[in-house]
Amino acid sequence: MNENRVCQLLGIRYPILQGGLAYVGNGALAAAVSNGGGFGQVGTAGRTVENFREQLHIAAESTDLPFGVNIPISEHSANTPYIEAILENKDKIKAVSISAGNPKPYVPIFKDAGLTVMVVTATVKHALKAQEMGADLLVCEGFEAGGHDSPLELTLFGLIPQVARVVEIPVVAAGGIANGQGVLAAFALGAEGVQLGTRFVASKECEAHDQYKQLLVQAHDDATVVMERSIGRATRVLKSPFVEQILKLEKTNPTVEQLLPYIRGIHNRTAAVEGRIEEGWMNCGQGVGLIDSIESAADIVRNLARETVELYTSLAGLRQTFAE
Ligand SMILES: Cc1cc2nc3c(=O)[nH]c(=O)nc-3n(C[C@H](O)[C@H](O)[C@H](O)COP(=O)(O)O)c2cc1C
Repeated sequence: MNENRVCQLLGIRYPILQGGLAYVGNGALAAAVSNGGGFGQVGTAGRTVENFREQLHIAAESTDLPFGVNIPISEHSANTPYIEAILENKDKIKAVSISAGNPKPYVPIFKDAGLTVMVVTATVKHALKAQEMGADLLVCEGFEAGGHDSPLELTLFGLIPQVARVVEIPVVAAGGIANGQGVLAAFALGAEGVQLGTRFVASKECEAHDQYKQLLVQAHDDATVVMERSIGRATRVLKSPFVEQILKLEKTNPTVEQLLPYIRGIHNRTAAVEGRIEEGWMNCGQGVGLIDSIESAADIVRNLARETVELYTSLAGLRQTFAE
């Protein structure tokens, strides 16, 4: 029996999670991650409630293993129909991850339904609050991560050890992880699991457009930028002419209304799902330079596990390096 607490809570083989992926976190991807021994999640963000239900159905049909759902609570003007869809399907779902806002009203709803509750946080303060609210597990997201990041800009090296030493519930590290080095480093920092986003976009089962996946494979370490800082937010995306336009506008200190025509989710959809990359933006984490190929999501999970063990074994010499 795997004694890792994340594995026990989620009923999985490897403590490797696929994060909620707005617009591209489809049911087939979630199931493929779970079939590889990790924990897949169907995203609500960027989906109509009908489509979310459909994706849940696809995931449940495609795996007998546990999977979850993600709900960024600030993304939907009305969260209620998504919550209803989750509760109606609670027998198919193992866990819910709540992100992008105050989880307080939502934690008891999902806990009462018998679901495991994960809260995505990016500071010690919010991690402690989430624990107090009854979260079972924390996903701590560093500023390396693709998508919406905390404007406080804490990176994993600072964030994980400082959270891990004050909370009792398990911590899952997210941001910039794309191979076994990242997984092992996260554990060394005090995490008991990892969550990846960008790596799983570049998978066969992800519904992201092939243009987007190819850009991820070609990208190097300098491929990401952060937009929306001018309005007190932070979203890590792939550099592109469309994003350059946004950054240029941001230098003029625009109002949210002025920026909105460019940062609306629809522009994410246009590029990420429809492949019209000159008309929108695509989320991307800092580890993107480590992605060399588009693999099946189950293979990505298995390779991460194998690489982590290999690396751990190869580091045995450290004992001697640091011996007194
Ligand atoms: C395409 C994309 C969409 C994302 N959408 C969401 C989302 O809807 N909800 C959420 O909680 N996190 C979202 N994230 C963050 C991921 O769940 C995950 O924590 C993050 O990608 C980890 O960093 P990495 O991309 O460097 O692996 C998104 C990330 C990406 C790359």
